[in-house]
Amino acid sequence: MKSFFPYDSVELSTNGREVVILDQTQLPTQEKFLHLTTAEQIFYSITRLKVRGAPAIGIAAAFGLAMCVNRFRTRSLQALEKEFLRVKHYLYISRPTAVNLMWALDRMERCFYATKQGLETADEKHAIEVIRNSLTAEARAIKTEDVKMCEVISEYGFSLLQPGCGILTHCNAGHLAVSKFGTALGPIYMAQQQGFSPRVFCDETRPLLQGARLTAYELTKAGIDVTLVCDNMAATLMAQGKVDFVFVGCDRVAANGDVANKIGTCGVAILAKYYKVPLYVFAPTSTVDLSCKSGDDIVIEERPAFEVTDMYYSKPMAPKGVKVYNPAFDITPAALIAGIVTEKGIIKPRDIKNLKKGK
Ligand code: MRU
Repeated sequence: MKSFFPYDSVELSTNGREVVILDQTQLPTQEKFLHLTTAEQIFYSITRLKVRGAPAIGIAAAFGLAMCVNRFRTRSLQALEKEFLRVKHYLYISRPTAVNLMWALDRMERCFYATKQGLETADEKHAIEVIRNSLTAEARAIKTEDVKMCEVISEYGFSLLQPGCGILTHCNAGHLAVSKFGTALGPIYMAQQQGFSPRVFCDETRPLLQGARLTAYELTKAGIDVTLVCDNMAATLMAQGKVDFVFVGCDRVAANGDVANKIGTCGVAILAKYYKVPLYVFAPTSTVDLSCKSGDDIVIEERPAFEVTDMYYSKPMAPKGVKVYNPAFDITPAALIAGIVTEKGIIKPRDIKNLKKGK
């Protein structure tokens, strides 16, 4: 599959000493790349959504951990291990809902200890070098595997589509949110390449406007027919018969097939059920968390009030001091989902518990 973009949203520099991200808070007006060289910068970029989207957060954290280990000056293996664990635990709590973050960091930890255990040398300098190389390779592998997963997911999603069909999407599960291509938007890129001319409706996704700022930006850049609507216009589109499918990404899938995704997804899913529009959730297996029995076990991030009252407005849009509730995600019950599209196929939500995860 060919990418419509000359850059990825997250990269590790060739020498492994910088994490380069496209600052998503500056889109769509500026394509500004940030070169991150400390754990604090990685943490800040994740919490402030400069890098965002479940797989992209996992990749950024893995790259960040490798970068910090590469930059840490020491001759002591014990000191390196201490620093590795410090950064790992610090990044672990940068955002709570997308499980890809924890999944990627845990995978890096397994790599650290497997490499350490396999060391045959007593030479600490050499051992440190081997661990650095191994962590850098593991972080790069997380991204490479995500690219492959996105391609396979895109193929499965594409198999659902017909030429000229209308797709509604919420938030941003595209090129920006992953390694390359996207999950929910991947089939749309593939459809465009196959001459299907899909018609996409993206809702703005209040309060942080990922739909307006990011999805509309990505799809416009790729020359795809995209129409931006406010969040409360989805029912009107569905009632007019303009939506054949709803495609959304996701931040965590529980064992019973409930999913956490951007706030507003559940509302769209209820509408889709009413109007008999199938809703598909796109998720690499790194997003599945079988330790959560149901959506009730998924931690939902709450974000600051100013994102609702002030951010993206030129002046405050609510009385000063008004009470604000700003959950960043909601739970869509399994019963509202037609299928979960993973790199292992399109799975009924109730069957997700049988899924064997990768590494
Ligand atoms: O708060 P965000 O912008 O990180 O939320 C992102 C989403 O909800 C996406 O739909 C999800 O991460 C899927 S990414 C392929």
